[in-house]
Amino acid sequence: MATNRTFTMIKPDAVEAGHTGAIIKMIEEAGFRIVALRKTQLTGERAGQFYAVHRERPFYNDLRTYMSSGAIIPMILEKENAVADFRKLIGATNPAQAEEGTIRKLYAKSIEANAIHGSDSDENAEIEGSFFFAGTEQY
Ligand code: TYD
Repeated sequence: MATNRTFTMIKPDAVEAGHTGAIIKMIEEAGFRIVALRKTQLTGERAGQFYAVHRERPFYNDLRTYMSSGAIIPMILEKENAVADFRKLIGATNPAQAEEGTIRKLYAKSIEANAIHGSDSDENAEIEGSFFFAGTEQY
């Protein structure tokens, strides 16, 4: 299977709670190579752009406020079958439904403050990675 990429960010709740190191350790131990990594904070406008696909959903405004409330750690990751394997590693959107041992089961606080993002397709991985990182920042 070809090596490919996914995009993730550790969300404000998990960064604030001091889980960044533990989460990155799980990601590396699961076989993902870190291609790009930064610590930054989204403005409300940028958070809204990132989640624009959810613009019509009832949770959109709260999500935008939450995602711009503190620091995040965006990363581009590389591995065989990266997108699907990473979705398995993070678990279901709602931590109450996430499998034991997944990042969201271990570290998420709620369906909104759910610790980590993972792209849902190769196409979105490319779009989301480019949202944060120039080609010259990817190694
Ligand atoms: P979604 O793309 O459905 O989930 P995932 O992050 O697992 O791909 O939703 C994007 C984010 O929106 C999700 O991580 C948390 C937030 N969200 C809510 O706050 N409330 C909700 O009811 C849902 C479905 C998502």
